[in-house]
Amino acid sequence: MSEPDLILDAETRQSYRAALGGFATGVAIITVLDGDHAVGLTVNSFTSVSLEPPLVLWCLGEQSDRGVYFRPAPNFVVNILSAEQQALADRCAKRGQYRFERDELDHVRAGRPALPGCLARLWCDTYDQVILGDHVAIIGRVRAFDSRPGDGLTYFQGRYGAAPRPAV
Ligand SMILES: Cc1cc2nc3c(=O)[nH]c(=O)nc-3n(C[C@H](O)[C@H](O)[C@H](O)COP(=O)(O)O)c2cc1C
Repeated sequence: MSEPDLILDAETRQSYRAALGGFATGVAIITVLDGDHAVGLTVNSFTSVSLEPPLVLWCLGEQSDRGVYFRPAPNFVVNILSAEQQALADRCAKRGQYRFERDELDHVRAGRPALPGCLARLWCDTYDQVILGDHVAIIGRVRAFDSRPGDGLTYFQGRYGAAPRPAV
């Protein structure tokens, strides 16, 4: 006999989220170009999917007001944040502060705007989008990347932290 569906009410939703919060992640900002500006969104759903070809994935909540920028975008950048960039993560998690002027951007490679000071940047073309429940998985094919050593910004049990760069 199969298990009954898990229905999340207000209380179990909270404990479910707390259970998922036990999975420590890094933090990234996804950026897309919008005319003269870029728009960013803080995410921790980013993951690498495939090396051949190089595919990565992140998930966009269907409720997000920023879907109007990210759903039709032919390309995007994954900006992986360093421990010093928590303020930037806060900014791109808030409504109304997620727009970047041109002079705040670093490389705009083929219409894909990157942020300065990150641990790594992945310049992607949108490869596929799959609706999964209340999120859309946005899959990107990586066209170019860069990286630098440093401490990583983490998210664990609802709080930011830092993953120190391993000693060599
Ligand atoms: C650490 C962290 C991780 C987040 N990860 C995601 C994510 O993976 N996908 C997503 O759609 N929103 C994520 N969010 C929420 C968005 O950053 C943003 O707060 C949300 O989309 C609400 O704003 P909007 O309606 O203007 O888009 C995350 C927020 C934080 C603080």
